[in-house]
Amino acid sequence: MALDALARKYGTPLYVYSATHIQERFDLYERAFAAAPHLICYAVKANSALAILALLDKRGAGFDIVSGGELERVLTVNPQAAGRVVFSGVGKTAPEMDLALRAGILSFHVESEGELELLAERAAKLRKRAAVSMRVNPDVFAETHPYISTGLREHKFGIDIARARRVYRKVKEHNWLEARGVSVHIGSQIRAAEPFGAAAERVAALIAQLRRDGHAITHMDLGGGLGIDYGAATEFDAAAQMERYAQQLLQAVSKVPDITLLVEPGRFVVAQAGALVTRVLYRKKNGEKNFVIVDAGMNDLIRPALYQAHHEIVAVTPRRGAKKVVADVVGPVCETGDFFARDRELEGVREGDLLAILDAGAYGVSLSSNYNSRPRPAEVMVSGKRALVIRRRETMQDLLAVEQGWK
Ligand code: LLP
Repeated sequence: MALDALARKYGTPLYVYSATHIQERFDLYERAFAAAPHLICYAVKANSALAILALLDKRGAGFDIVSGGELERVLTVNPQAAGRVVFSGVGKTAPEMDLALRAGILSFHVESEGELELLAERAAKLRKRAAVSMRVNPDVFAETHPYISTGLREHKFGIDIARARRVYRKVKEHNWLEARGVSVHIGSQIRAAEPFGAAAERVAALIAQLRRDGHAITHMDLGGGLGIDYGAATEFDAAAQMERYAQQLLQAVSKVPDITLLVEPGRFVVAQAGALVTRVLYRKKNGEKNFVIVDAGMNDLIRPALYQAHHEIVAVTPRRGAKKVVADVVGPVCETGDFFARDRELEGVREGDLLAILDAGAYGVSLSSNYNSRPRPAEVMVSGKRALVIRRRETMQDLLAVEQGWK
């Protein structure tokens, strides 16, 4: 079904995803790493819709989670998938650990000594063995937005790679813990392949050391972070990008015998599969500036406001020959930061027209909120000729249902 028909049927703002596109991107990963034992662990945070998790689960994906809630989502889709789950995050709580221990996940990515102690305590209490990987901080710089860069010593993530051996030694003191892997994640939306290679080399060297120290390391998790092209100037060649990236990783992996490679892609798999469809409410001019006011807001897609991120915006039904306009595309939310584009050239946009904000499949809905008491948009998954609502639009009743104590 065409986007305008979907918008008429389900209303706007509306998230629309292509199942085929998600599958293709996941398959690119599978093919790129076919030469090595591997598990592609989809980063649930990028888009945690059950329909997307189910689709990837069917293709044998693993999952990278960062909360008990994300684990519950994976288990909802397939309780058997627990064995393909890795648990990242700097602030795991005891209840979250318990949930993961009971489910029997593949690996805990431990980010501090305090966390290691708590995990040891919970594992002993529940009498559940836990496989752990330290998330090491490789001190590698990668060009990206400072808010999503994670691989430098000054960041909160991971354990300084120089101290890692000492922390691994501590794992041995705990009966219910086994050091099985090493993990690393240097950041997100990284376009160059080399930083991934540099981090992978450091992890490979550490694994060799750890094995000499007597740890039975079986997996090497090189994180997510592969970027996409949000611009429209050039056609994004995802296959070429993947090839460069995989080559860097595989080169490091080849130096480590008998190892399973794990990667944790989010954005690369789902970003370009999704668009946020929105309707133009008003056009207006303040001074010299044109504004296109749409019915989606920063609560629906916060990336432009939060990271000054660029998203292409196109007319769903382009008007041929219409006069171009340079305008800010803004939402109804009461914040100056509520914009999707600034000084953007658009093809003759009229009130009532539909616009599609592209590449919104990753960190769109998953970062959305109810700010300004705005119910979250519906989400639709298109699969061939079929379009399925995978999350209905929220209602005000949904929002009010959790409130009490005011009467
Ligand atoms: N693994 C770990 C440990 C992570 O922290 C992340 C993302 C990923 C994997 C997946 O990264 P990806 O392949 O999607 O780049 N909200 C931001 C991105 C935040 C990324 C957080 N961590 C944005 O909209 O750009």
